[in-house]
Formats: sequence, structure tokens, C-alpha cells
Amino acid sequence: MKRFKGLHGVARAQDRYQHDIVVNSKVVRLADTGGSQLILKTQHNGDCNAMAKLPILEFPDERLRTKAVPVETVDDEVRQLVDDMLETMYDARGIGLAATQIDVHRRVVVMDVSDDNSQPLVLINPRYEPIGDAKEPLSEGCLSIPEYYAEVPRYLKVKLNALDRNGEPYELEADGLLAHCIQHEYDHLEGVLFVDYLSPLKRDRVMKKMQKRHKLMNDA
Ligand code: NI
Repeated sequence: MKRFKGLHGVARAQDRYQHDIVVNSKVVRLADTGGSQLILKTQHNGDCNAMAKLPILEFPDERLRTKAVPVETVDDEVRQLVDDMLETMYDARGIGLAATQIDVHRRVVVMDVSDDNSQPLVLINPRYEPIGDAKEPLSEGCLSIPEYYAEVPRYLKVKLNALDRNGEPYELEADGLLAHCIQHEYDHLEGVLFVDYLSPLKRDRVMKKMQKRHKLMNDA
């Protein structure tokens, strides 16, 4: 069984990711053309304003339970949000961030599962469907639940539909780490966290750990 340590903790398991990303780059593709075009399309066009790092909500903050609303128009405001989210995600050494996590309840996600932050992916109004029934447990983490990892079974392969930073629709097939990441981030938009898949006992332990962390942060 393949395992990815820490869905968001790129720095913690750099070597594993390097191997897994090679796997991903072979299987991730646009349905109709080459996958590299998708990456190029989502890169910054040089027209973005100064980016800002935003605070990330942490479990058990109830705002993480908000269901996000669809984006009606991909305008400059949404592009600014995307840029701020990428900045925030890279700064936190994450590989995925949903707008929900920065208390913006719109259906926007950013991701980059590459080892050198070279493949930003923008998912606006994402939808996915599984390809086949196979599920695979991988160890996941979350920027909203720092320093905690647990195995979560997710679909091995998914087909994603979303809008990019320019509002253009695209489709891609993903497996491995990217497929997991898509499902994890989509959950955020629905107000679902990966600890929801754990037993109540385990979830309770995470809750206590987080409360302790927040108390320490407040006391500091
Ligand atoms: Ni997360």
C-alpha cells in the first residue's frame, strides 16, 4: 500500500513526494490535450496585484463548517483571492488550501502537489466524480489541523471539472496524491474535515490536542 505522509506537509516528506509527483505527472492530464497546458494556463499572468498572506482557521473553529457558495463570475476580485490563497498556501508549506480555511465561503481551491511549487492549480466551482470504485487509504494532514496526520480512504482516481483563474472550464483525470488532494479540498467547501472520517474517540483526541495548542498560543 502506498502512503503519503502528510497531505499538506510537503517539507516533512520531501523524498516521498518527489517520487510520487513523478507518478502524478504521468497520469494527470487534460481530457483532450496535454497536461502541461493546464499548468501554464493557471500560472500567474503578471497582472496580479500584491499578494497577501491570510490567517488560516483551525479546527474546531465552527466557521470551517460553513458550506461555500459557487463563484458567479471569475473577476479581478476572485483572481486576487486566488493569488492571496496561493501565497498563504506556499507560506504555510501546504499543497492545498480551500477558501473556507481563510474564512471566505466561496467555492475556490488552490493546490500545488509539485516538490518545487512550480505547478499551481486553481479550482473554481470544482466538481469531481470517481473513476471506478477503488479507494486507497493515504495519510492526510491539513493546514487547519496542524501537526496531525491520519489515514483516510479516498477514491484512487477521479475526474475533475473546474474553472481556472481566467474563468475557463477545464477537465482533468487525477490519481494518487492529486486525487486525494482534490477530494480533501472539495470536502472543505462542504464544511467537512478529514477528522470527520475518524472514530469519535480519535476525533476527540485531536480536538483536545488542538485546544491545548490554542491555549498555548493565547498564553504566549
Ligand atoms: Ni485541509
